[in-house]
Amino acid sequence: MKHLLWFFCLAFLLSCNTKTKQEENTEKKVYDMYEPSEMAILMNQMYAHNLKIKNEIIAGKIPTEFPQDFLNIHTAELSDFKSRSERFQAFSTLFVTAEKDVFNTESNIPIEDRFNNAVGLCISCHQTECTGPIPRIKKLLIK
Ligand code: HEC
Repeated sequence: MKHLLWFFCLAFLLSCNTKTKQEENTEKKVYDMYEPSEMAILMNQMYAHNLKIKNEIIAGKIPTEFPQDFLNIHTAELSDFKSRSERFQAFSTLFVTAEKDVFNTESNIPIEDRFNNAVGLCISCHQTECTGPIPRIKKLLIK
């Protein structure tokens, strides 16, 4: 009986602890909203870079160098402590593969198609993760 009592005390203490941790997280979350997350910064860089590539392709240039920074999509911290879902990881891998293919000078697929395919994967991931920027991303597509 005494043991059982100790057990309840301990359980109570532990639950208190988790609660404090959660409260700390919420405070941090509010604070974080004023600064863009690593992921948001990376996304904006990827947007700008792809816009540049789009204009190069339209001007008849063939892009050859995959921007290594794009690989940070696998590690950059998301805002509001969103965890990386399996879905997110699957989409980031697909996206990186498609984006690398844009710079594959040996491919037989037209460059416009490869570029649009990569942008399509930006959009696919956004359809499940964050729909807000989709109209903006669609402007990247080469018509
Ligand atoms: C694997 C999923 C995924 C892929 C692929 C992806 N995004 Fe995102 N994107 C996100 C998520 C999640 C956020 C929200 C990030 C955050 O708030 O931490 C985001 C945010 C953004 C934002 C808003 C950033 C801000 O200022 O808040 C833009 C713009 C954006 N993405 C553009 C792109 C473009 C362009 C591509 C392709 C080159 C792309 N995304 C590919 C998941 C993805």
